[in-house]
Amino acid sequence: MGETMWNERQQQWLEEVYEKLTVKMAAECERAKDKIPYIARNGVFDDHSGKDQLNFWTNGFWGGILWQMYHATEQECYKEAARRLEAKFDYLLDEYIRLHHDVGFMWLHTAVADYRLTGDETARKRGLHAAALLAGRFNPAGRFIPAWNGEDRIGWIIIDSMMNIPLLYWATDETGDPRFAMIAREQADKELAMAVRPDGSCNHICCLDPMTGEMLDNPAGQGYESGSSWSRGQAWALYGFALSYRHTGEQKYLDAAKRVAHYFISSVVRTDFLPLCDFRQPSDPVYYDSTAGACAACGLLEIAEHVPMLEKTFYVDAALRILQAMESNWCDWDPDRDSVLQMGNAAYHDRPDQRHVPIIYGDYFFIEAILRLLKKDFLIW
Ligand code: GLY
Repeated sequence: MGETMWNERQQQWLEEVYEKLTVKMAAECERAKDKIPYIARNGVFDDHSGKDQLNFWTNGFWGGILWQMYHATEQECYKEAARRLEAKFDYLLDEYIRLHHDVGFMWLHTAVADYRLTGDETARKRGLHAAALLAGRFNPAGRFIPAWNGEDRIGWIIIDSMMNIPLLYWATDETGDPRFAMIAREQADKELAMAVRPDGSCNHICCLDPMTGEMLDNPAGQGYESGSSWSRGQAWALYGFALSYRHTGEQKYLDAAKRVAHYFISSVVRTDFLPLCDFRQPSDPVYYDSTAGACAACGLLEIAEHVPMLEKTFYVDAALRILQAMESNWCDWDPDRDSVLQMGNAAYHDRPDQRHVPIIYGDYFFIEAILRLLKKDFLIW
């Protein structure tokens, strides 16, 4: 990818965004101290660092932002803050019982990112510990990884898992032990069979028979209703299958990523590239979700890395259109206020105070996408 994929005006836009990003993130890092941010309200991040909230699935993304900024700028302040966050998660590894499939999001962005960039041995051990916990969730009868805990959810898989299993691919690369990657492939195959529909849209949750792996139900999850199309779920599938292709070379995963991508792109065209919360929600009220756009943009850029030259422009152009539309409508560049990307949406039916707010993973994916386009990123997945 590179110079021929976008014009001079877009290159200038990217460089301007990067300048604003470096100013804003330096200020945020200084202000955040040891907070673990989730949502910003009135320009101030909340804090999930208390022990009761430490296992929340989004808690690694701040680490991901810090490591990406450290890699791009070499500013030590980012590394120091990221290391303090990484150490906090040791409590969760010891406690174990409250962990879930999102150990992928949590440790890929903290310990594994640290290890990839610095070679730190303690970080490697933490990453492998988390990978062993994720692999240990695998149900060999139904052949899937259940997402959450609780007897009533023992057979539930969710499409979000596609972004957690790169932790397993990493563990196989790191140890040479094929079991981790085999489990990741089982999960990708199950999601492909159960969650991805023929038109490229996806179910969020699939409730499976834990003994046979057969589908029992597909409730709405975080989307509008069963059979609708929660946009962040589409983005998890789009990027997740592209990553499974990167790690396995299996063509069926790239084909799935492209199918979901085509559905995603055709769904944002009618809203000027600003993603709705659910692509099949009623026309009123109009709920958006910026986090879906940011994650999808990263996934489109990932697909662009694996397709022939003639196809690349299509994916890069779609990513740029989404990013530029969101930047001009939804970004807050004031360095005195926390969070860049506004208009995130935790779930379609969520409490109103979780709707159209800046959410930490929106910022993470927006930053990753900008850094990818400028070749200043590193692969965290
Ligand atoms: N993984 C949960 C969510 O996307 O909200």
